[in-house]
Amino acid sequence: MNKEIIKKTAEFAQQTLQGEGSGHDWWHVLRVWNNAKMIGSHEQCDLFVVELAALLHDIADQKFHDGDDSVGPRKAQEWLESQEVDEERIYHICDIVENLSYSKSVGGTKVQTIEAQIVQDADRLDAMGAIGIARTFAYSGHKNRTMHDPNIKPQDFTSTEQYRNADSTAINHFYEKLLLLKDLMNTKTAKKIAADRHEYMQQYLEQFYAEWNGEQ
Ligand code: ADP
Ligand code: NI
Repeated sequence: MNKEIIKKTAEFAQQTLQGEGSGHDWWHVLRVWNNAKMIGSHEQCDLFVVELAALLHDIADQKFHDGDDSVGPRKAQEWLESQEVDEERIYHICDIVENLSYSKSVGGTKVQTIEAQIVQDADRLDAMGAIGIARTFAYSGHKNRTMHDPNIKPQDFTSTEQYRNADSTAINHFYEKLLLLKDLMNTKTAKKIAADRHEYMQQYLEQFYAEWNGEQ
């Protein structure tokens, strides 16, 4: 029964996110789902909630919901009601979908339950390492932003709005988010993986600057 709901939810997410170009495509969701299952297998948790929240965490189409955070949780709720998931779990999953994002945490929001922490770690791991780097440049291109400009310095954001509205370069995004993620992981499993991905990103930046300066 639960397996069937997860399978149908995966199909629903895949169909809904087809062609999404801002870094929240189905492949991102699939990776987050896999990360979440892996982290969840090391924790005492409700894996059903973890898997459904991972699958639904980016369900709102970014093109239509810029600035409106209520669309994702509402879509998730409608879907879970149609699958007759119990009310308590629907509430929990929608709460995770609503509060998961990095931009929310810049505003000070912290997730509380172990299930939320697992999905948040799973999502954040996908913003690190080789894939995190690729997503950053893809997102920058999508927004018509420049790759690097040594005259534009990285910023220290203190609110969700500031972070979301900033017009930063791809390289600055490393300092404004990617390199901060290692210390923000909730679970031991994710902390270990994050440490490796962090090191890889630092090496990448070293190589990038060496090439930029014609040194290598
Ligand atoms: P979240 O749901 O965690 O808030 P975002 O929507 O901010 O995630 O990001 C989607 C992807 O695009 C992530 O890999 C993220 O690191 C990247 N990204 C977000 N903002 C920027 C930016 N200003 N420049 C480059 N990449 C970005
Ligand atoms: Ni995501």
